[in-house]
Amino acid sequence: MFRLTSFTLPHTVRGAAAALAARAASTQTASAAGSSKAKPQVATAEPVTDLSSEEAIALDNEYGAHNYSPLDVVFSRAKGLNVWDPEGNHYYDFLSAYSALNQGHLHPKLVAAAINQTQTLSLSSRAFYNDIFPAFAEKICQTFDYEAVLPMNTGAEAVESALKIARKWATDVKGVPSGSVQIISACGCFHGRTLGAISMSCDPDATEGFHPLVPGQLKVDFGDLAGLEATLAEHGESVGALLLEPIQGEAGVVVPPDGYLAAARALCDKHNVLFIADEIQTGIARTGRMLAVDHDNVRPDIVLLGKALGGGIYPISAVLADRDVMDVITPGTHGSTFGGNPLGAAVAIAALDVVAEENLAATAQAKGEAFRARFAALRSPLIKTVRGKGLLNAFVMDTEALQGASATDLCHMLKDEGVLCKPTHGHIIRLAPPLTITDEEMDDVCERVETTLARLEAEIAAGKHPVPQADPDAPPPRACERCGRADGW
Ligand SMILES: Cc1ncc(COP(=O)(O)O)c(C=O)c1O
Repeated sequence: MFRLTSFTLPHTVRGAAAALAARAASTQTASAAGSSKAKPQVATAEPVTDLSSEEAIALDNEYGAHNYSPLDVVFSRAKGLNVWDPEGNHYYDFLSAYSALNQGHLHPKLVAAAINQTQTLSLSSRAFYNDIFPAFAEKICQTFDYEAVLPMNTGAEAVESALKIARKWATDVKGVPSGSVQIISACGCFHGRTLGAISMSCDPDATEGFHPLVPGQLKVDFGDLAGLEATLAEHGESVGALLLEPIQGEAGVVVPPDGYLAAARALCDKHNVLFIADEIQTGIARTGRMLAVDHDNVRPDIVLLGKALGGGIYPISAVLADRDVMDVITPGTHGSTFGGNPLGAAVAIAALDVVAEENLAATAQAKGEAFRARFAALRSPLIKTVRGKGLLNAFVMDTEALQGASATDLCHMLKDEGVLCKPTHGHIIRLAPPLTITDEEMDDVCERVETTLARLEAEIAAGKHPVPQADPDAPPPRACERCGRADGW
């Protein structure tokens, strides 16, 4: 592992602590000088560390768990679509923290809400009431037309909460014998990294070594209505819920066939099964509607939100349902120390306000259509398909045309061109900028992507990426333990 010799951590930490102390002192002085109604003072943006990119990467590798394989770029400052590394190099963020930054980096309204609430009340715990969560609860319920909200923190926690609600609803209301409730999920799904969430995963990387997984899982192929019908016909009496992403994000922005979600909804009604939509990545205007299910006029029994609900400022997630479902949760059956905390609630109110005030759903719809049309018209031989909805899109690369090059190679080249995105599952590149992207920024990014594609094409034509010799000793591609497919995720 690469180690630094010229860099010492204590110096950096001391520097950071001193900067924070100075900042806190100046804020205190400023508020003490004003009246109790004075506007909160905004701290100046002093850097907390003085790490170079090289130092940050080395320190991360040395002390951080190795559970990601990031591109070699270090975020140091950001604004809207723009990111700068410690050396001042500029990039466009075309991943948006997996759609957590729909409102863009550091939206001023969100920053102001966070600072204001931090200086007023940050945490109460749900052992007591606070005066911000109720306003958030009313707002999110009215925005999405549900009767109740269960606030959590991360997306995976929202998923876990929904699984618990579905099991309890099936046991208490539907009458499934305790311990027999089953949940249907789709092959290729991604619902997070907790044990319950990975228990539905088809990705061997996510599951191998983590057994025993949570039982009570049934799988169907995403988009396969006949398969869902057959599964429900066979097991419907013991099924508590069908859990689906309306568009599978991690799987490579897989859009189901038209009519699938509405028909799945109808099948759930027929078999008295809850329809849970995991909108953690697709929700909050990302796909051109407030919820991706809105494209199909589907109303799920339970909606899961996360990511952009906190506007990239604070982790906050939510489970939305009507009372007949939500009220199976009673005091003592579920909770979270931080769920519904005033800081997160204030940020989420502002996050929803920004989406409405700036009309981000309509923007995502229009800009997404233009984006897909532009790259479809480009007819790059390297791109097999451009797919998605709104500003959740993907290039499916043509693996034959790429020869020995990969989607990862293209992402490295795009990074060198100032555009940040990441491949998902080998040959797919997800493209999901903040919804606040301007026309000029979009044009600039598209030109850079086109230039990079042309460069890669020229390199391939010049023989720079020969197809590697097949390795006879290479292990066969690992297949999903459930569906047996090697490409099922
Ligand atoms: C559809 C979906 N569900 C759940 C999650 C998990 O969210 P978190 O990483 O906040 O736990 C993700 C994260 O990418 C997601 O895309």
